[in-house]
Amino acid sequence: MLSRVYDALPLKVERAHGVRISTDKGEFLDTFAGIGVLAFGHTDEKTIEAIKEKIGRFSHTSNYFLDEDAISLSQMLLNMSCGEGEVFFTNSGTEATEAAIKAIRKLRRGKLVSFEGNFHGRTMGALSLTHSPKLRTPFEPLLPDSIFLPLSGRVFEEFARNNEIAGVFVEPVQGNSGVYPLPEELIEAISSMKEKYGFLIVADEIQSGLCRTGDFFAYQHHDLRVDIITVGKAVGGGLPLGAAIFCGVRPFAIGDHGSTFAPNPVSLAAGKSVVERMDTTLLEGVKIKGEHLRLGIEKLAWVKEIRGRGLMLGLSTHDPVRIKEKAFDRGVLLNVTGGSIRLLPALNISIDEIDEILERLDFGG
Ligand SMILES: Cc1ncc(COP(=O)(O)O)c(C=O)c1O
Repeated sequence: MLSRVYDALPLKVERAHGVRISTDKGEFLDTFAGIGVLAFGHTDEKTIEAIKEKIGRFSHTSNYFLDEDAISLSQMLLNMSCGEGEVFFTNSGTEATEAAIKAIRKLRRGKLVSFEGNFHGRTMGALSLTHSPKLRTPFEPLLPDSIFLPLSGRVFEEFARNNEIAGVFVEPVQGNSGVYPLPEELIEAISSMKEKYGFLIVADEIQSGLCRTGDFFAYQHHDLRVDIITVGKAVGGGLPLGAAIFCGVRPFAIGDHGSTFAPNPVSLAAGKSVVERMDTTLLEGVKIKGEHLRLGIEKLAWVKEIRGRGLMLGLSTHDPVRIKEKAFDRGVLLNVTGGSIRLLPALNISIDEIDEILERLDFGG
């Protein structure tokens, strides 16, 4: 039998396309796109074509072979972020965090700082920087020299004055905690202390990156110079892929880090077909649709608070699980995390589809 770590929906999926999933219990509108993975929705034609084309030629070769798609996808990621640098591909988000940790350890001495509410993955290194005590404490001891600070610029500044910091992990919009954008004053404090002490900054963009918030990466909404950007989820076009993007730092030499599978050639082709369509037109659409969705949600009586940016929204409500069940009965799939409802729909969702979702989520009262 399967390890019982997931609480799966009581559905058998038959087919899925765009934001619609056909199941043994009828059709549903999907508001979370495989947890923010499917930027262009289910069974996106261009992605399927790219997958078929690549897998028909080869599916795995190992790192003894150079894949042209790795070069082009890494260049696309650099063009969207710091322009120049290098990219290390992984199979998942948590492995991208591991790569960032190893890079920092190689380059600098000192503490690894994370913040209350941050989520960076579940492997032992990443878990050391994932705040949730429920996820973390059963597996302690974890990495030494990793620490969590409250979301306060003043506390961070004091810590930076009194401790040697190697790296600071920010999750610009904390996704798994319920979609909380980091306070601006904390970002400013991190930025000004970096000038003084030179620690490395990692932006975890595994969930918030790749156009999700209306910019290529969520850190770009702020004046923040980052050294490492981690990506996952959408970067593989629905197949497993992650990456650590190194900006102005060159942590790894031959043999320093590696993986049998990463980057998988088919994941690269799928990812390339998605990332090459991530342009300013898509960003504009995300902003417009995000605003439309937000305005519609504001009218729903059961919503107490809305947070987030673009098409990454968190909704507080009295009983999120009950709302999730009511939505299910009306054919809408909602995701509950960190005690909030988290919306991460496909970035190409249409205004009509948003309206259909909003209509079904209007329970009156
Ligand atoms: C911000 C963030 N970091 C890291 C991860 C870990 O990614 P993965 O589940 O691919 O290991 C996630 C996954 O939800 C995430 O949202």
